[in-house]
Amino acid sequence: MNNRFKMVAFCLGAVLLAALLVVGAACDHFRVSHLYTHGVVVSAAPGASQAGLQILESGGNAFDAAVAVALALAVVHPEAGNLGGGGFALLRVASDQRVKTLDFRETAPAGASESMYLDAGGEVIAEASTYGALAAGVPGTVAGLYELWRSHGSLEWNQLVAPAIALARDGFEVDLYLANSLTEHAQELAGFASTAEQFLPDGRVPQAGDTLYQPDLSLTLRSIAAGGRDGFYTGDVARQIVDCMATHGGLISLDDLAAYEPVWRAPVTFHFDSFTVYSMPPPSSGGLCIGQILSLMEPADFSRMSPSSPDYLHRFAEAARLAFADRSEHLGDPAYYSIPGGLLDSAYLAARGKLMDSVKAGRSENILPGLPENMTESDQTTHFCVCDSLGNMVSLTYTLNTSYGCKLVVEGAGFLLNNEMDDFSIKPGHANVYGLVGGQANKIEAGKRMLSSMAPTLVFNNEQPYLILGTPGGSKIITVVAQAILNMTRFGLDLDQCVAQARFHHQWLPDVLWVELGGYDINVIQELIRRGYDVRECEPYSDLQVIQFTGQGMLRGASDPRGNGAVAGF
Ligand code: DON
Repeated sequence: MNNRFKMVAFCLGAVLLAALLVVGAACDHFRVSHLYTHGVVVSAAPGASQAGLQILESGGNAFDAAVAVALALAVVHPEAGNLGGGGFALLRVASDQRVKTLDFRETAPAGASESMYLDAGGEVIAEASTYGALAAGVPGTVAGLYELWRSHGSLEWNQLVAPAIALARDGFEVDLYLANSLTEHAQELAGFASTAEQFLPDGRVPQAGDTLYQPDLSLTLRSIAAGGRDGFYTGDVARQIVDCMATHGGLISLDDLAAYEPVWRAPVTFHFDSFTVYSMPPPSSGGLCIGQILSLMEPADFSRMSPSSPDYLHRFAEAARLAFADRSEHLGDPAYYSIPGGLLDSAYLAARGKLMDSVKAGRSENILPGLPENMTESDQTTHFCVCDSLGNMVSLTYTLNTSYGCKLVVEGAGFLLNNEMDDFSIKPGHANVYGLVGGQANKIEAGKRMLSSMAPTLVFNNEQPYLILGTPGGSKIITVVAQAILNMTRFGLDLDQCVAQARFHHQWLPDVLWVELGGYDINVIQELIRRGYDVRECEPYSDLQVIQFTGQGMLRGASDPRGNGAVAGF
């Protein structure tokens, strides 16, 4: 990234966050949320929220709308929206009131192996798991969206693809957010001719107000509209992917594509006060880590804390330290690794909680992953939420991993491939791009899903729907979602305050307490340093999307003021 641009963006972000916090606290009229009665879509890009609203208004249900939003995001939010990545959806189906999850995470190609990113001396080859074709896992997005529609959709499939086709074929107006994002990543995007052709037309970064056309992407979307899942995983598009692999040294084969299957899974479910929380099970760590953190927070006396008080940051950081330690050891793809069943047991968590000092910072080098008694087996990103008038709900997070994935657009097919292979533990103890370490549970194996932190979540209060939420942010997803739930349930913030509230993060290793720049008073930071934390300020992060059920049939949607998202509803 251009350092000057980074510095300017960093300062602007910090000033904006500080301004939001001050204005949010001082003014009753500061609102990013909107209230509706029939249906709501909250996503990271206005064009995608509109595509979802269009489907809801034409009689589609939340599942139809979710498919349309995801496909539109693949066009208008290319840093994370995708056809060449994967993700997770958490659904609540009104007809039977069940909550379930759909896992369409990428898989390691059949040709992948444990040492594929290591040189002859066993050292990690720089950028091999993040940049270019070798970094890509077998995409799951199109199979996942198609399964979502096949099982729960109500409109015709091609109706759901139509808004995305129009946006790609007819072009859409580049906004300041996208222009800045493309500027930030221009150098890496220029590394592949197909990517440069698509995102840097005529050799320049599109400016706000320009129209971005993506004709190759529109052809791929047309193939998906006509052929459904097969329009991507077999035939011309599949051949384009495999040709791209041959040209750039990747592993994905026609067999890998044909064999890809999404998986239905029961959600991680836990109780917290009067709330029931549903979130994503392995191969995501999201649900279990959020469950551990909230359970460890439950006994705390919140009347003596605020969302910015040192006692709160301290206790939460210690809970997160314990949860991330367990993540490193025990979590991976359940089809390949036997995940202990007792990670949310109250006795286990009570014992783990005793490791937290009430005042002083723990030291991660002294905190090891725990040994739950029940060791038997039990299971740049974007998030959006949709709810319809029937009470169907979708919380969906999907991703290419880092912004623009491996930066490689499949020649002739117009979509970016992911660099999700970096989410595997590519060498024991080696930190991935989010600083996360892991071992055996998350080692690379052919066909395996890499461990994720994505956490599409639903919260019910006394069995009534209360929140649909989720966010991007890599490892920070876990702490952002857990903090948002506490902000609403324990601190009594309203939704606008909740999405604007400053954030902090701890993930065991590195042993650092990250706090958003401009978000915390200097006295708070000094107190945390006194307690023994290595406190570091960071740019405002994540892009939280939330729908709140406010009672009397009202739905309030809010999109993180740090991002470029939009609420659309009727
Ligand atoms: O699955 C994961 O945990 C990551 N690949 C998510 C990446 C992400 O959230 C990037 N967004 N900022």
